Amino acid sequence: MTQPVRHFLDLWRHDGATLRAILDDAHARKAARKGWTQGRVDADAPARDRTLAMIFEKNSTRTRFSFDAAMRQLGGDVIISTASDMQLGRGETIEDTARVLSRMVDAIMLRANHHDDVERLALGSTVPVINGLSDKGHPCQIIADIMTFEEHRGPIAGKTLAWVGDGNNVCASFIHAAPKLGFQFNVAAPALYFPDLMDLVRAAGEQGRVHTTHDPREAVEGADCVIADTWVSMGDVDYDQRMAALEPYQVNSGLMGLAAKDSVFLHCLPAHRGEEVTDEVIDGPQSLIWDEAENRIHAQKSILAWCFGAI
Ligand code: CP
Ligand code: NVA
Repeated sequence: MTQPVRHFLDLWRHDGATLRAILDDAHARKAARKGWTQGRVDADAPARDRTLAMIFEKNSTRTRFSFDAAMRQLGGDVIISTASDMQLGRGETIEDTARVLSRMVDAIMLRANHHDDVERLALGSTVPVINGLSDKGHPCQIIADIMTFEEHRGPIAGKTLAWVGDGNNVCASFIHAAPKLGFQFNVAAPALYFPDLMDLVRAAGEQGRVHTTHDPREAVEGADCVIADTWVSMGDVDYDQRMAALEPYQVNSGLMGLAAKDSVFLHCLPAHRGEEVTDEVIDGPQSLIWDEAENRIHAQKSILAWCFGAI
């Protein structure tokens, strides 16, 4: 019997054991290459003779460079394009694109405006498809974030993470992960920018580890980790309304002072200093943002290794 294709589209689709195995592999791979140059290939080279196609409908620094570096470290190669340079940009369907690329590469990463397009690509593809951010989720980011937390504060299970701000795509992937990996996830967001109801219902149906409030102080009280993201994501058009509604949700030293004494701060970047987070916090001793950015490489290597059946 043929194995199902291993797509990585949303964290809620995977069981906790799979996510744990990916995280454990990421920790191990990072430790094994301590002191190596960035370009050196891992000993097992699980992507040897494999090519990843990357398609971008939106801008990217971290996702683009980390996937490229990740494939090189796994012994594979990449082909990168913006969607607008492809026939996709002139109306060729996602389904036809999926069929063509499936004949040319071994996996496809898509950064998409609309999550449906990631799903359609996966439905039409015979090789693994990875969600490199959509309007509904950013699963690769959350693997890197959890890895970063664990490096500094130990296993995520039983810990409390607090999200402050827009209940956006990155927040959604944390909601997807909480029941799977056994951490408490508190979300403080204004009514206008609350997390997706479907995500909350699904989490409640799993193990109910997600708590929502409009009050940032309530969410952060005693938390082991505080997380912020931009108030205006790529594709958002209601800038003025967002700035007004989200203004009370800034992560500053006063708010951080309510979290646990040894709490840490995460932000997927790019950041807007002085808006969702102050300089004092993002550049302060609790901030793990540079490790978090680096860990995009290590996390993605393990996601890719899982997609290729090496985990
Ligand atoms: N965090 C993140 O995905 O960054 P980029 O938009 O630069 O890829
Ligand atoms: N929420 C942000 C994350 C960027 C990495 C966005 O979608 O623009």
